[in-house]
Amino acid sequence: ADVLDVTQEARTGDLPPHLRVDELLHEAYGRYRGLRTGTVADYIPALAGADPDLFGLSLMAVDGEVHEAGAVAAPFSLQSISKAFVFALVCEELGHEEVHERIGVNNTGLPFNSVMAIELNHGSPMNPMVNAGAIATTAMVPGPSAAERWEHVRHGLSRFAGRPLTLDGAVYRSEALTNQRNRALARLLESYGRLVEDPLETVDIYTRQCSLSVTARDLAVMGATLAAGGVNPLTGEQVVSAEVSRDTLAVLASCGVYERSGEWMFEIGLPAKSGVSGGIVAVAPGKGALGAFSPPLDDAGNSVRGGRACAFLSRALGLNLF
Ligand code: DON
Repeated sequence: ADVLDVTQEARTGDLPPHLRVDELLHEAYGRYRGLRTGTVADYIPALAGADPDLFGLSLMAVDGEVHEAGAVAAPFSLQSISKAFVFALVCEELGHEEVHERIGVNNTGLPFNSVMAIELNHGSPMNPMVNAGAIATTAMVPGPSAAERWEHVRHGLSRFAGRPLTLDGAVYRSEALTNQRNRALARLLESYGRLVEDPLETVDIYTRQCSLSVTARDLAVMGATLAAGGVNPLTGEQVVSAEVSRDTLAVLASCGVYERSGEWMFEIGLPAKSGVSGGIVAVAPGKGALGAFSPPLDDAGNSVRGGRACAFLSRALGLNLF
């Protein structure tokens, strides 16, 4: 629970009263910038060289108000955070019942790339926030060809970000050469009749969505869109419905930070999604979202500084849903 012990610190009440949001955000940045725990992911070779000192926090309210500290414009690949937004797009297309039935919304309690989770659950991918469930979700993206399905994903995620997102080609090529495990997960789902499209084509689209280049600022906008019932605070566009935003946040609450989701909810009380490149987006429904970026991860694959900052700010800003 190393991500979470900040709450003890924040509970000590050493903060001066009446700090403004901006001051609290800078306080979070200052507290965790020097933290040296966690390990940069290296199972995707292109991620291994990330600067472990990078740290950025971007907070966006549903009305578009922004507060930022640190490396908020540093690019990194979206990785698993894409799962939340592709799920929202698929939910918008296919509806609540169908995603519930075909993918599932319960936590596996196992690591994000677990094969055993599929085997233990009769071929069900269990939820859209682990690799198997995300691959099954990407297979449900509509379109007549793989190229058009990929364009649908890229365009949809860009609408969440409020700007055109592009592929980080180096990350994509590196992951495409080393993603045997994801290909195996897709084949296993196929063997259970759980994949509606070609497994390798689907893994390729999934790998591309994970390789989209974003910043902490983009994460804040994407999260704030879910916080605002699907309306992007920058562009004013209704990206998905309010119902789909609610469904997506419900899945993030139970599954967004993998097998740590229970502890995260217990200590932080906000739906969130993490990715192995070090991004985290945490959403306060009706209020706004925090986009955090810092590459060193805990053993479940969640950014250490990002988790600490979320915990601190959830408490300091009174955002805990419970
Ligand atoms: O499929 C993978 O393994 C990566 N593209 C994404 C995994 C990920 O981000 C898990 N997160 N913490």
